[in-house]
Amino acid sequence: MKKYSILLTLFICYNLLGQNNQVIDPFNYSISKNDTFSKGSVASAHPLASLYGVKMMQEGGNAFDAAITSQLVLAVVYPAAGNIGGGGFMVAKTGNKFLALDYREKAPSKAFEQMYWDENGNPILEKSQKSALASGVPGTIAGIFETVQFTKLPFKQLIQPAIDVAENGFAITEREANSLNKLAVEFKKYNHHITAFQQKNNWQKGDTLIQKELANTLKRIRDFGLKGFYEGETADYIVKEMKKGNGIISKEDLKNYKAVWRKPLITNYKGYEIVGMPPPSSGGIIVAQLLKMVEDKNLDSKIFGSTESVQLMIEAERRAYADRAEHMGDPDFVKVPVETLISNSYLKERMKDYDSTKASLSKNINAGSIKESEETTHISIIDKEGNMVAITTTLNDSYGSKTVVAGAGFLLNNEMDDFSIKPGVPNMYGAVGGKANAIAPNKRMLSSMTPTLVLKNKKPFLVVGTPGGTTIPTSVFQSIVNIIDFNLSAFDAVNLPKFHHQWLPDEVFFEKDFNKKTISELAKMGYTIKYREAIGRVELLKINNNFIEAVADKRGDDSVAGY
Ligand code: GLY
Repeated sequence: MKKYSILLTLFICYNLLGQNNQVIDPFNYSISKNDTFSKGSVASAHPLASLYGVKMMQEGGNAFDAAITSQLVLAVVYPAAGNIGGGGFMVAKTGNKFLALDYREKAPSKAFEQMYWDENGNPILEKSQKSALASGVPGTIAGIFETVQFTKLPFKQLIQPAIDVAENGFAITEREANSLNKLAVEFKKYNHHITAFQQKNNWQKGDTLIQKELANTLKRIRDFGLKGFYEGETADYIVKEMKKGNGIISKEDLKNYKAVWRKPLITNYKGYEIVGMPPPSSGGIIVAQLLKMVEDKNLDSKIFGSTESVQLMIEAERRAYADRAEHMGDPDFVKVPVETLISNSYLKERMKDYDSTKASLSKNINAGSIKESEETTHISIIDKEGNMVAITTTLNDSYGSKTVVAGAGFLLNNEMDDFSIKPGVPNMYGAVGGKANAIAPNKRMLSSMTPTLVLKNKKPFLVVGTPGGTTIPTSVFQSIVNIIDFNLSAFDAVNLPKFHHQWLPDEVFFEKDFNKKTISELAKMGYTIKYREAIGRVELLKINNNFIEAVADKRGDDSVAGY
């Protein structure tokens, strides 16, 4: 009897101290770049989002519970990209089933193809990128409520951390302080009220960011579910904001918004199962194309970062992005030839003119420049039951349209710029598109977001994804081959420098610390070289037998947590 009571006391202490009673202090937290865990883990763009997600797993939830909490906390602590005013995609595994959830924003019902052209037919980029007219109908909250069917804990419990942190505030990091200071002029220009993101003096590391209006919006969502966002008071605030900024999202647009289950894109690479997001994201197709284009070219016998391996990968990237521009758009509006685009025969044909001694040439039209930005954000999650969740979500640019909904306290996306606002005219990522991605009422804009799962022998192997606009699929591709072909550790696969080619502009972008010898040899072969800041912010979980290796990208405040 005595033995039993000691065991029971130990069990209760373990649960209280070690598992269920983890105290998270929003004013005192630290960044953890990599760690190993035995049960569950979250890697995300902010330590608080990772920690609160893991807390839900420790309180009896699974990866889907964690996904909801982490997303909502990110909307509070990482307003540049975490959001309730944007949209996203989730690729997940539950039991033996794969899921692909599309909660991408939609064009408002009053949208039309030439809505961002001036009277001479020239696109006005400020209109598609800034202010209320740049916003698509937000999808994030609809996506979250579709996910609820897989959760274990009450929704009220999942949303409470986000409410508390919005209401009571949290200490901002140096990076956040700098990014808010950088945006001060635009917040003033694109808002008719003082937002929570503005203060008299410059923001400093450690300052408290309190978002009372956002807390109240989250409470309405807690109390009224979908209707707390898409109808009633929140919808009133959104429509009022539209009127002030010449936006066109209506109450009906909000009420009619639906998240959509899509068929996950499953391909095979060297025996690994790759599970990706189908259109309206281009990400899953591009990663599948890239892997298949290099599959028979002995990448594993080449060296990471060498001229040989980089040149092959650039040529694959060039071809995949040319297909993106021509063939991809919202599958509910245009026929996307998915099966053909990822078929072995088609991709063999695409690489037929590949020459390992020189650069191919992209058609030299309408080249644009790639903007450096940390828009979009990714969360990778695994739980002790083997559920895997990869979510990429976005406002598009950093802080989206820069417009905060007065009264509701959240930023609206500027996702309309992801449409091809005029055929051949580059968007803010320098990507061009055609008819397939032209604006139409209620259509979803093409995305590059690439939440991805990789399985080995049917068992979880990688959960991976990243922000980075059009660089997203290439970062995911490079992270995967870094592990499978170049045998790099998970940490190096994420953190070693990356490169990017997207057909147009016909330039290869390198991170500044990339191997200089390779770069000068590629220049001699005819490649136009450009340097840029960070490519991606990858969150990667690698599952090795029974432990999880979690890595958060060095390029941001990204942080892992687990237990
Ligand atoms: N807004 C970035 C993307 O969806 O690709």
